[in-house]
Parts: sequence; C-alpha cells; structure tokens
Amino acid sequence: MPASTRIRRKVANFSLKACGLRKLRNGRLQRFLRTVFDEIDLQHLRDANPCPSFRDRAEMYRYVQNTYLDREAVDYLEFGVFKGESIREWLTLNKHKASRFFGFDSFDGLPESWTGQGAL
Ligand SMILES: C[S@@+](CC[C@H](N)C(=O)[O-])C[C@H]1O[C@@H](n2cnc3c(N)ncnc32)[C@H](O)[C@@H]1O
Repeated sequence: MPASTRIRRKVANFSLKACGLRKLRNGRLQRFLRTVFDEIDLQHLRDANPCPSFRDRAEMYRYVQNTYLDREAVDYLEFGVFKGESIREWLTLNKHKASRFFGFDSFDGLPESWTGQGAL
C-alpha cells in the first residue's frame, strides 16, 4: 500500500475516532478534509512524475521533438495556423523525409463567443 494511502487512512481513522467526524457526514469540514487528502495525493503524483516547464512554446516543441519523436516521421496537422509561427517551428525541428505537415485556417479569426474553454 502506498505511503500516501497509509497516511490518509491513519488520519481518517484518527479523525473519526478522536474527533467524532462521523457526525459530520458531507459537512463542510469533511469536504475540506477530502480536498486536503486529494491535494496530498496530487503532490505524490507530481513528485513521482515531475512536469517540465518551459520559457516559451519553441522550447516546449524542442523538448517534445527531442524526448518523444527523436528521428521519427510525423503527420503534423495544425488547425488554426494563422501566420504559421508554430508549423514553421515544427518544420525546422522535424526533418524526417517521410514527415508531412498540413496547416489549416479559416482566416476569420477566433469566433467572438470563444471563451477559451469547452464548447462555443
Ligand atoms: C491564435 S491563432 C493560431 C496561432 C498559431 N496556431 C500559431 O501557433 O502561431 C488562431 C487561428 O485559428 C483560426 N481559426 C479559428 N477558428 C477556426 C476554424 N473553425 N477553422 C479553422 N481555423 C480557425 C483563426 O483564423 C486564427 O488564425
């Protein structure tokens, strides 16, 4: 059993026995504790899988190319190329002869109602 689960169980048992938390079913304190435990789990996950961060997207593209693609051919499709900044970057990064690059754009800009998340 992972350390995070053991700790969580111990704290949960202590909370139930010593603090009488059973009476707080679905109360605010119980929800707060659940959030704390979820955060502990997330921290363990983050520690086990360190996530790199980048100064800019060009640096991220280089990382993806060097770490995951190496000398592989790719089919690259970009929907919304605008002036072609990203697709040009990828063309310089992935030189495989069999790679194919396709850029699409409506050239109408982003829809007014676009909020950056989910459906329009
Ligand atoms: C933020 S720009 C993209 C920048 C580009 N990806 C880059 O890395 O430089 C968004 C582009 O998506 C295009 N676009 C928005 N909705 C689209 C759609 N439904 N179909 C095709 N292109 C679309 C816009 O015309 C605009 O040029």
